[in-house]
Amino acid sequence: KRLLVLHGPNLNLLGTREPEVYGRVTLEQIDQALSVRAKEAGVELLTFQSNHEGQLVDRVQAAAREAVEFIVINPAAYTHTSVALRDALAGVGIPFVEVHLSNVHRREPFRHHSYFSDQAEGVICGLGWKGYVYALEFALERLVPQSA
Ligand code: DQA
Repeated sequence: KRLLVLHGPNLNLLGTREPEVYGRVTLEQIDQALSVRAKEAGVELLTFQSNHEGQLVDRVQAAAREAVEFIVINPAAYTHTSVALRDALAGVGIPFVEVHLSNVHRREPFRHHSYFSDQAEGVICGLGWKGYVYALEFALERLVPQSA
C-alpha cells in the first residue's frame, strides 16, 4: 500500500517562514514523523514538495501510474489559484485530504476559497503541523482498517 504527501510552494521554508503563523517545525521533521507512523502501519509513504505548479501536476499524474491509493496535500498558495492542480487530482481520481497549517478562514478573504475542498474527502486547517498527522491517521484507516 502506498500513500503520497504533497507540499506546495514555500512550504520548504517551514521552520523559519512566518513562524507565528506556520510554527517552528521544519518540513523535514514533518515528513520524518509521517514516515515513521506510516511504516509502523506497514504503508509506504512518498513525499514531494515543489514551488512549481507544473511539477505538482506531474507528481499527481505519476502517482496514478505508481498505484498510490491516497494523497495528503497542502497545496499552499495554489489552494486559492490552481485549477490545473485541482484538475490533476480529479483526473487521477485518487482520494485526498486537504491540509493547511493555519486556519485559512481566520485570515485574509482571498484564503477563504479553495479549489480543492469540494473534491476532498475532508479538510483539516488551523491545527498546525499535527494536521498532517491527523490526515495521515485517516488515510491509514482507509488503507489498512486494522491500523487505527
Ligand atoms: C497554507 C495556507 C495558504 O493560504 C498559504 O498560501 C500557504 C500555507 C497553510 O498551510 O496554512 O502557503 O496552505
